[in-house]
Amino acid sequence: MKQSITIAFICALLAAFTLNASAQTHALRWERVAPGVWRARVGRPEALTLLGAAGARPALEPLGKLPAAPFPLDREQIEGRRWGWKTAVRLPLALDEEVYGLGVDFKTMRRTGSTFRLHVDHWGGVTGRTHAPVPLYVSTRGYAVLFNTARYLDVSVGLGVRLAAKEKPPVVDRTTGKGWAALPRSDSVEALANAEGMEVYVFAGPTMLDAVRRYNLFNGGGALPPKWGLGFLARTPTRYGAEQALKEIDDFRRNGIPLDMLGLEPGWQDQAYPCSFEWDAARFPDPSKFLSEVERRHVRVNLWFNPYVSPTAPLYRKLLPYAGTHLVWNGIVPDYTLPAPRKIFSDQLEREVVRLNPRAVGGFKIDEVDGYDRYLWPDAATFPSGRDGEQLRQTYGLLVQRLVYDLFHKRNLRTFGQVRGTNAGASPLPFVIYNDNYAFDEYITAVSNSGFAGVLWSPEVRGGKGEDMLRRTQAVVFSPLALFNGWATDDKLWTHEEVKDDIRAAVILRMRLLPYLYTTFAQYHFEGTPVVRPMPLVEGFRAPQARDESGRLDATANPYAIGRADEVKDQYMLGDSLLVAPLPPGAKTRKVVLPAGRWYDFYDGRLAGEGETIEVTPALSRIPLFVKDGGLIPFIPERQWAPGRDEVLPLEVRHYGRLPGRLALYDDDGESFDYERGEYSWTLLNVARGAGGRWQGQVTPDPRGKRWRYSEVTWTFMTK
Ligand code: GAL
Repeated sequence: MKQSITIAFICALLAAFTLNASAQTHALRWERVAPGVWRARVGRPEALTLLGAAGARPALEPLGKLPAAPFPLDREQIEGRRWGWKTAVRLPLALDEEVYGLGVDFKTMRRTGSTFRLHVDHWGGVTGRTHAPVPLYVSTRGYAVLFNTARYLDVSVGLGVRLAAKEKPPVVDRTTGKGWAALPRSDSVEALANAEGMEVYVFAGPTMLDAVRRYNLFNGGGALPPKWGLGFLARTPTRYGAEQALKEIDDFRRNGIPLDMLGLEPGWQDQAYPCSFEWDAARFPDPSKFLSEVERRHVRVNLWFNPYVSPTAPLYRKLLPYAGTHLVWNGIVPDYTLPAPRKIFSDQLEREVVRLNPRAVGGFKIDEVDGYDRYLWPDAATFPSGRDGEQLRQTYGLLVQRLVYDLFHKRNLRTFGQVRGTNAGASPLPFVIYNDNYAFDEYITAVSNSGFAGVLWSPEVRGGKGEDMLRRTQAVVFSPLALFNGWATDDKLWTHEEVKDDIRAAVILRMRLLPYLYTTFAQYHFEGTPVVRPMPLVEGFRAPQARDESGRLDATANPYAIGRADEVKDQYMLGDSLLVAPLPPGAKTRKVVLPAGRWYDFYDGRLAGEGETIEVTPALSRIPLFVKDGGLIPFIPERQWAPGRDEVLPLEVRHYGRLPGRLALYDDDGESFDYERGEYSWTLLNVARGAGGRWQGQVTPDPRGKRWRYSEVTWTFMTK
């Protein structure tokens, strides 16, 4: 008797356990957390999230200015599931819907019909592993979804048809059926994490671009770099000391190539990989003197580090109590989810570097916070906060960026730096991603994809043959950060006589466009509009149709061929008016897809085409650039470094096309955070036909009477 009671009890326990272990599916409860932004929780979300690590704080006022929009999905069709240590979320996906985003991929933009494991990593070709695996997707139906978890995330988009699906793709016989599909399209986006719960956010549109804007504003608005951050950055060879570094600046000046930032690579420290965060006494015997020489030359330095602390460094002892279980290049990995080690590290950067000359130290390059697996700590690592290797891997770049940003913010001085790994929530962090890749087309795809992910990406010029360097320079000049990374080469921008003048002209053009670029970044900050707008976000752009390859049998190439669309991922809009179509090294011609409306050649103002695909054969000196009808492009005169905070410059405004033009031009002191307290101006530039049908330009000062730093305005009407 007693025995049977015990058996019954054990059976009941087992049944309860099995029930617990089986999936619990439930509808989500959505809470409106900002205008057009909703949050739901599945299970018990962990305390460390991506937005939390980034320190994201919603910019509620501009969010409220976006058009009102209802919850964009059918709530009934969204469900969360919890079992064991897993959390899954399913959202509906319509048959005619395409999805973009899910991180900065190098190969493609379109996400529908693919699976991903979103995982911070160096580039290497595994889908979902990237420097910025931002778990945000943007739908052509005009909304976006964010999975706010610091765990690796498996996402499948339009794959994995459910038994319970109301409408299923047709069953077709593989042998005889024409419409047989290797990847039957599902009605869902599904995400899965190894966690007890996760937060999900939905951002309304109504357009795709509005949804991206809401995401960026929800993080606090996009980064606003200092004006000098929009100049040119050259990184010096890693072995360079103070004298060589100063000579590098002088060589730029001698060659007439603008320079605002000089990058010091590992060699500024007395120990790197792991790092000491102390100047090397032989290469930089007097850092303060060096920095004042840099300042005298109107340049800022940017200092490289990876965050792994060497046992030889004085900092080591202080950070040791906060170290994780594993080493990277034999250095400790501090747990920067905790405030105490954050303060210790921030104090070190302040004392050893920034304090010496805050006007000459522009920022840092945060290296090696991405991967590969073989370099960084394993997932099995644990950290003093109780967090593990996976969580730290997904957030390390964010944590260090926030730390550096706060350090400069405290001084009311802006910074602009580089980072190799980041994640969701990064929009306001003034860092540009880079990597060791050198594939031109992949760089351009990454620049495009960054617009869906709330991050900035820059290709690099690192040397090469003449034409190669020129084409790459032209591409970096029209990206968020114009950068020559000479850390491992003796090549300079002036090495190749035959292209030297064209390289100089490309960098000068960037400097002349500073008011346009600065306004583009201000739109990112104040309105959430991405600096780089991939083509699917551009009004009037029609993505090419998918090619139908179903039923095609080819045993040697791919017997499971699927319909794929030719994506337009090699051109993008930079700001409101400029369409950039970089020419890869070696190419003589390329196709450019012009969205609806008339488009004009940037250089001569002639009509280039209207809602059509054109073929261009640009001269070596020119990167193909097109301006939207009615576009206004403001220019400053040629110069070698960015204007100082009170410098006043003449402005030339160029108008293109047949439509009237309107541009709200942004300005502020270009260096401080006073814009957060309202110290900025938006000046309205208008071009319209006056009496006699002649074009006329008009300037309307900022309605709040705030100043801009331009003296006389001249107008050039480019289209005759
Ligand atoms: C690499 C980085 C390069 C350069 C180098 C210096 O990891 O991607 O840009 O900084 O380190 O050792």
